[in-house]
Amino acid sequence: IKSEDLQIAIDGPSASGKSTIAKRLAERLAIVYLDTGAMYRALTWAALKEEIDANNEKAVTELASALKIHFEADDSKQQVFVDNENVTNAIRRDEITRAVSAYSAIKTVRDIMVDKQRLIAKQTTGIVMDGRDIGTVVLPDADLKIYLTATPQARARRRYAENNEKGYSTESLATLEKDIKARDNYDMQREQSPLKQASDAIVIDSSDMDLNAVENRIIEEIEKL
Ligand code: DC
Repeated sequence: IKSEDLQIAIDGPSASGKSTIAKRLAERLAIVYLDTGAMYRALTWAALKEEIDANNEKAVTELASALKIHFEADDSKQQVFVDNENVTNAIRRDEITRAVSAYSAIKTVRDIMVDKQRLIAKQTTGIVMDGRDIGTVVLPDADLKIYLTATPQARARRRYAENNEKGYSTESLATLEKDIKARDNYDMQREQSPLKQASDAIVIDSSDMDLNAVENRIIEEIEKL
């Protein structure tokens, strides 16, 4: 397989470094990067704006099917748009992070998002997607499946350092770790497409690895294909 035709799935719990690694791989291999979490976040952003409660599945589903999400490549980072509004920063706010689980747990919403994701994959040759259900549901035939994880302690430490570096206000380390564990639980226990390793995924525990080590480990796997 030529690297520009590769389909790569990266799944794992929150704050495991999936998106950073996926972006690096996309750049290195000159393939498309799709941040599927940003799609669930964009829907949540629109639902909160329209004041559509997650319990109102019918209205949320209608919103999801009408929603026009698109990505634009920028020099520094990918920008996310809903209709023509740039929501790149807005979808990272705590209020969205807290609410997104409830919206992304709805079966009809997932069906719509998965269809959109598969369509994007079909329209391009090479792609790397990160999420929770890419290797299990969205791209079951991906050429390479990575399950990227790290201990809750390691992920909390990274999130804490990242918040400080970006000048965001941050919870204490202990609170971050508690939140991460709660989200792991929720993502792994939900009925619809819970977070789990695909049986053919390569598991990478990055607790004691830096980004370069993780990237090199994945490149080794690509070279074996
Ligand atoms: O990766 P992230 O934190 O941006 O994801 C936001 C939320 O969306 C997270 O609570 C899990 C959910 N999600 C999902 O259910 N399926 C995906 N493929 C990607 C994200």
